[in-house]
Formats: sequence, structure tokens, C-alpha cells
Amino acid sequence: MSTPHLQGERGDYAPVVLMPGDPLRAKYIAETYLEDVRCVNEIRGMLGYTGTYQGKPVSVQGSGMGMPSIGIYSYELFHFFDVQSIIRIGTAGGVADEVQLRDILLGVGACTNSAYADQYRLPGQFAPTASFRLLRTAADTADQLGIAVRTGNLLSSDTFYDDADSLAEWQKMHVLGIEMEAAALYMNAARAGREALCICTVSDCPLRSESTTAAERQTGFTKMMELALETVIRL
Ligand code: HPA
Repeated sequence: MSTPHLQGERGDYAPVVLMPGDPLRAKYIAETYLEDVRCVNEIRGMLGYTGTYQGKPVSVQGSGMGMPSIGIYSYELFHFFDVQSIIRIGTAGGVADEVQLRDILLGVGACTNSAYADQYRLPGQFAPTASFRLLRTAADTADQLGIAVRTGNLLSSDTFYDDADSLAEWQKMHVLGIEMEAAALYMNAARAGREALCICTVSDCPLRSESTTAAERQTGFTKMMELALETVIRL
């Protein structure tokens, strides 16, 4: 029972899936942290793996960039593979004043400039939010591991190169970081009655023209991956 974008059979994915944007990060996580691991998707090079972490089944599936892409993959995982929980692990641009390079953000909510919610024909605006269970477990796990995190709103933007240059307006609303996927993931989870959380490391601060080096991004990503995996085994 493959779908247009995922070749696996029902049962090929664990109930909990970690989703980095970059499929090569999925491969890295699988090869570095998982045991008894097998590749479950190669369609379009959007690599997916299933294995175990400290005995607990977990999958890692690339999402691609942007809301249409994570919208497709998370929809198929929730609806066709019985996935219960998706934790996105990605990068974000820092927005709020206090946010620094390499900070880890937990997205309580995801504001968006996307029209993704239009499909639900709601008579108002939907507020995409994380699963409280996942959020609380991730925050508690971070405390236990001594990893500092910031919790608050993200902005899921449809544009990386933004002609309107609107980040300062979002900063006034104390949005912590800008990325491009969380809102669609949270909406898909809400519609499917499932759970989602977005964890991001801050790779750049566009309003201050600061960015991390490739080596720093790797180190930051490692800390976030460990937080995500340790969260999974506490669920
Ligand atoms: N914009 C959107 N997505 C991002 C950014 C950004 O500046 N940095 C990392 N992901």
C-alpha cells in the first residue's frame, strides 16, 4: 500500500516519526543513533528510515522544505501509515530580540502567512498549536538533560526570500523564530486527531545579519536530535 510519495507498507513506520527537512539528516540520524535500522523510503530521494532507539521503535523521515512538502508527507504518515506523533527537527531564523544563534526553540504555536488553513473553510482564523503532551515531555526532557530551550511562537513562512521584509512586524508580536513548516504540520495533526511538535535550532538571525557556520549547525543539530530522541523514549 504505497502512497504517491512514500513507498512503504502499513507498519513500515513506527508510531513516532522524527522529521528533519533535509533527507540526508534523516540518513545521518538513522545511521548514527538507531539500531536494527532499515530504509523505508527512497522516492524522490526523500529518505525515510525505521529502527529502534534504546529499544523503542522510531522512524525518521525527511520532510523537504516548505508547507506544501511537509503537508504531503505528514498527511500520508498520519492517514496511511497510522503514525501517531510527528516531531519536526529543523532550523529556524531567530526573530525575538533575546533569541541567539544556536538556541533551541520549542514551537508552542505556529503563526503563518500561508493559506494552508483555507482548505478547512473555517469561519475564522485557526491557531496551529503543538501537542501539549509532546511539548511538555520535550521541555521536561530538556530540563533533565540540562539543555536550555525557549518556548513560544514560531512563524511558518511561505517565503524564504521575502520581498515585503516583514520580519520586524512579527518581532513586535514576540515570535521567537521563522521557519517554513510547523504550521502545516500542526494543522495536519489537528485535522487527523494526532500529535505534533516542532523543535528548531537557530541557524541564523536575519534581523541582525548573523549566521552559524556549517560546523556549528552540525553541533546544534546533534543536541536537538538527542533531545528529540530522548523525548521519544519518554513518551
Ligand atoms: N527563514 C525561513 N526559514 C529559515 C530561516 C529563515 O531565515 N532560517 C532557517 N530556516
